Order: sequence, then structure tokens, then C-alpha cells
Amino acid sequence: MLSLSDLQVAGKRVLVRADLNVPLGKDESGNVVITDDGRIRASLPTIAQLADGGARVIVMAHLGRPKGQVKPELSLAPVAVRLAELLGRPVGFVPQLTGEDVQLAVSGMSDGDILLLENVRFDPRETSKQEAERGELANELAGLADLYVSDGFGVVHREQASVTDVAKRLPHAAGNLVQAEAEVFRKVLRDPDRPYVVVLGGAKVSDKLAVIGNLLPTVDRLVIGGGMCYTFLAAKGFDVGDSLLEADQIETVAEVMRRAEEAGVEIVLPIDVVVARSFSADAERKTVPADSIEPGWMGLDIGPASIELFATKLSDAATIVWNGPMGVFEMEPFALGTAGVAEAIAAAGGFTVVGGGDSAAAIRQLGIGEERFSHISTGGGASLEFLEGKELPGIAVLEE
Ligand code: 3PG
Repeated sequence: MLSLSDLQVAGKRVLVRADLNVPLGKDESGNVVITDDGRIRASLPTIAQLADGGARVIVMAHLGRPKGQVKPELSLAPVAVRLAELLGRPVGFVPQLTGEDVQLAVSGMSDGDILLLENVRFDPRETSKQEAERGELANELAGLADLYVSDGFGVVHREQASVTDVAKRLPHAAGNLVQAEAEVFRKVLRDPDRPYVVVLGGAKVSDKLAVIGNLLPTVDRLVIGGGMCYTFLAAKGFDVGDSLLEADQIETVAEVMRRAEEAGVEIVLPIDVVVARSFSADAERKTVPADSIEPGWMGLDIGPASIELFATKLSDAATIVWNGPMGVFEMEPFALGTAGVAEAIAAAGGFTVVGGGDSAAAIRQLGIGEERFSHISTGGGASLEFLEGKELPGIAVLEE
């Protein structure tokens, strides 16, 4: 896989696929605002390095899932503004992806200029399952540039025109972000320093079973919280009341626990949980032992004894990978578990990797310094698929 330093970029038109898929909200006046610009910040080093090197930088990215339709609320226009602010230099924006206006804008660029194209997913060919359709779009995009740089780590698990098909049509390299992320995930998959502890949370256990299966041979300890822990607790025969439960996964989870035991992997589950009457910040709530949640109550966070237990289980770790919040951290009364575990990971001192959009967002929302972690991944699905041991098409194509 080539890196930026392998490319001669001066005077060249360089097409960069970035992941600028940021959450949007509205301010009091109803204007669209970016609520977390982490992914834009993570894209700056590659864009700045290329522009400083005299390239004409054409950035393409997606926002949301418009399913091949032009949805004005998913325009990248506000992202172009934020990108320019953060870079401290102008960023041109064309409200199209291909066609005459784009060609004109590109032909008017000077060395060092930066141009952002409109949401690649407004074009149905971007996400088409038909290679010929994607190829048609990829030909148009590749026709704009001399070189291609893949820097959208969050989309390397997608076989999409701007991710894989363009790479096949132009000399290419990985950008700084893709390179750094891929190195981190290869390290924790193949050669983690021990003890190696993986902390998993998030709503659905079914999303994490492949990761757990792939990690069992290498990990020393699995710490499990979040909505997914209730299926583990149920598999141990505990009552989980009205908590989130994937009943059809109980048998599989019980099998995973047996395999973990055989492999000598310790599975650490909550010993107490914060339960509420309903899924609401104002609902009546209390802390109860994790083995006896009554009907009519749902677990929405891990409890204080669990936070303490998890912190102990993290304190000696040389490598920690964390994916998924411990509770409904978006509601203040249920944020303590996620905050406590994030704090324990930050304090652990080893090599710490935060994967997944929600955990990274939690860290920022809870105001825990990002610099206290070794690596915060920008990839949600991509980092999970990496940990599942899958071949990621957007990485594989760079290695060709
Ligand atoms: C993400 O948000 O994880 C990436 O931007 C990929 O988005 P997607 O899941 O819609 O492909």
C-alpha cells in the first residue's frame, strides 16, 4: 500500500475520498449546524499536506444515506464551510458531483487549491450493486484527476464507486488517516501487547458476535456492557425484565461464553445496572443487582459497582480496544457508566484504541480529553469489520 509520500503531487489533480459524514443539527434560528466535526478534523492532515505539496485537491465525500437522490438537507455545503474554517484556507464547493460545472471548476484550479464536490451518494451509481454502473461513475470521477488518494477510513468497508472503483482507474495511495487507522487495527489484531482487553457495548449483540468470535483466540479479557449485555445476562439464566434482549441470540451467546471459557478468555459482565421504568431521561430509576431485574424495569446503564469492577479489569491492560457505549449516554442519568469506563480506559496507560462512531462521540460529548487515548478511530462499521477479521475492499484495492 503506497502512502502520500510515495506520490509526486505537485501540479497534479488529486482526487481524495474523505469521510466527512458528520452529524448535523439545527441552531435556535433553524440553521444547519455540525454537531461533531471530529471526522472533518481527522481529514485535515491529508488535505493540507496535498495542498502544501502543490496539488490541486479535489475532495469527494458522502453525507448520510440519501439513497441516490438529491436531498438538499444532506448537501455537503455546510461541511465545505467548516472545512475551510479548520484548514484556515479557502475551499471551493461545487453543488454537483460530475458534469460540466465540475469540469469547469476543476480546470479553473491552481496548484494548492482545494475543491469539495457535492455528496457522492446523491448519484445512485455510487452505491449500486452493479459493477458496470459504479464503473460508469468511477470513469467520470477518475477523468477529473491524475491521482487518487483514499482517506475515508469510515468507508473502506464499502464497495462503492468513490471508494473502490475509482482506485482501480488511477494511480493511488492511502492518505494519512487510512494509513494510521489500518496500522492501529493491524497491530491490535495481529500483535497486541498483553494483557489485551476488549470492551464492547452498544445496543445489539448480533452486531458484535462476529467480532467476539474473531477476537477469542487473541484477547485475554472481554468486558461487556451496553444494551448487548442483557442478552449475555439472560444467557446466564438471569432475569432481565424489560431490558433490550435479542432472544434469538441467547443460545449463540451461551455458546460464545463456553468457547471463551475453553480459550481461557475471561468474560466480565456488569454486576449491577441502572434500571428505569421507561426509555426516558425523566423516568423513575434505581440501581439493582444485574442478576435480578424485575419485569417493568429496563437496564439503561451499568451501575457504580460495575464501573468499579470494569476499572479494575482494565487497570493492568497493556492494550485496550473499546467499541460501544455502556449505556444510553445521550441521556444524562444514564451516562455515568460510559463516562466511568472511558475514564478508566484513559487512566489505564497502555495502548488504547476507541473504535466506533458512538464511543468516539461519547468521549467528545462527555468532555473527556481525546489526547488521553492512543487512537480514536473515525470508522464505525469499518473498525468493526476490521476487528471481525474481514478483508475490507477499500483497503484491498489499495494493496493491488
Ligand atoms: C459511518 O458513518 O460509519 C461512515 O461514514 C460510513 O457510513 P455508511 O455506514 O452510511 O456507509
